[in-house]
Amino acid sequence: MKKVLIVGSGIAGLSCAISCAEKGMEVTLVSPFPSERAQSVLAAGGINAVTESCEEGDSIACHIEDTLKGGCYIAGKESVRGLCEDAPQIVKWLERIGTVFTTKEVGTVARRAFGAQSYKRTCYCGASTGKQIVTALVMEARRFEALGLIQRKLWTDFYSALIKDGACYGAIFFNEATMDLEMIEADCLVMATGGQNALFGKTTGSTQCDGYAQGKLFMQGVELKNLEFIQYHPTTIVTSQKKMLVSEAVRGEGGRLYYLDGEKRVYFMEEKFGERGNLMPRDVVSRCMDETGKEIFLDISFLGKEEILKRIPEVYNLCLKYRGIDITKESIPVTPSVHFFMGGIAVKNNHETNIKNLYAIGECASMYHGANRLGGNSLLAALHGGRVAAKSIGEMTEAAEGRPDFSEELKAGQEKLRRLKESKSAFPVMYIRDLVAQNVQENLGIVRNEEKILNGIDDVTYYLSIVDKIHYDNSEFLYLGYSLEGILTLAKAALTCALSRKESRGAHYRSDYAETKDEYANATIISYENGEYRTRLDVEGTYES
Ligand code: FUM
Repeated sequence: MKKVLIVGSGIAGLSCAISCAEKGMEVTLVSPFPSERAQSVLAAGGINAVTESCEEGDSIACHIEDTLKGGCYIAGKESVRGLCEDAPQIVKWLERIGTVFTTKEVGTVARRAFGAQSYKRTCYCGASTGKQIVTALVMEARRFEALGLIQRKLWTDFYSALIKDGACYGAIFFNEATMDLEMIEADCLVMATGGQNALFGKTTGSTQCDGYAQGKLFMQGVELKNLEFIQYHPTTIVTSQKKMLVSEAVRGEGGRLYYLDGEKRVYFMEEKFGERGNLMPRDVVSRCMDETGKEIFLDISFLGKEEILKRIPEVYNLCLKYRGIDITKESIPVTPSVHFFMGGIAVKNNHETNIKNLYAIGECASMYHGANRLGGNSLLAALHGGRVAAKSIGEMTEAAEGRPDFSEELKAGQEKLRRLKESKSAFPVMYIRDLVAQNVQENLGIVRNEEKILNGIDDVTYYLSIVDKIHYDNSEFLYLGYSLEGILTLAKAALTCALSRKESRGAHYRSDYAETKDEYANATIISYENGEYRTRLDVEGTYES
């Protein structure tokens, strides 16, 4: 029986685990936290799919075109076609396994308008779509757990992949209970570890998804892609802990952005783009907000309390709880914040990386979204990617007997942890992580330029040079210690990608190269060879096609 090792138990990991188990494969699902605490539960807005209950005129072809256009035409047409064609089956399957979508009338899934989409196409469960989907997937996974086809392993963090001669054989993990490393061998490894939030500190996402896995795999020879494309969601509220998402659903329900000129409200998005101005692509809205240089407000109060509580109760509760704002009476002060990473591990259409038997799915992979993702396409991509990877793994030939010996790698890792436990030098790890976040926020913001990016690279290069001198205040937080080098390496790779793209496209806007240029109409690939970071444009279409 084929053994599949999946790292990350959010929506992408669960989707892949269930699909593999349905095909009779044996899955080990490893994660630091239970699925119920995965970042996926934060997903608010919805999932795009064209089915019979869509608006008249909508079609799968239109979903494909909106996705390609939103991504500024650098996502692969074939992969996007696969995504949009699978969407109706995915929504039906989710309903079948118990996802309770909001309905228009009995049996008909309701739709809401989301940014940059030609029709109301986004299916939703109030404003807690991610939570509802995770709940249904967890129940479905339990059936296979009972059959012994899925085995869960919690409180376990990724350390490194077992890679030799261009193929992968499993991974090494840090066990938080034993505080030691352990090796799990498998026929293939699937990474589903989410985005790269630690690069920016506070984002709308979870800091559990820190990007370490992407950075570590990069150092192990895995190519990454499109790291310069970082999505700033236009509407978030700032709290002391994090940036809280005010779902695009608010603008989908008619919410209007404005700033104040004295007493007068200026609806700047509508003035610039007309009626659908508030629902322009996220990169456009965030940039326009930034350009005003003013405090921006979002008003939905005109909908009235009854409708607000019916349509977006979660947003009402969130604003009241975290900022004391009653959105039925007041406008919400909003600010753009980092929300999603279009870039990540480079994968081919079947979600395999440049390393044989190593796959990546969900937000840790770069696929489908090009230079800017549409709202409602991330849950879809996570679910679809899991299914695609499972299909490909099911079709692969069984691994030959005689795996390479990885005991030296395990010993080297254990030695590293021992050194970390004993380290006594002067730089506390959390201080360095904060400095990195400040640096990346400053230099990979909504507007970038060469001078800023080079400053960022200089600083990160310096932190990397002292990484062996970092002090870990508490050996229980060994994970924070060993993950720092991977996170710094990823930060440098993202800055290097941004430096190499001398144009503006989607979420990558450079004040020194404000034009979009045809010569850059391809994905950026970055690789790591002997400490060198090398970028190229994927002109041959090695990855997504
Ligand atoms: O605004 C939102 O609800 C976000 C949705 C998404 O990123 O897909």
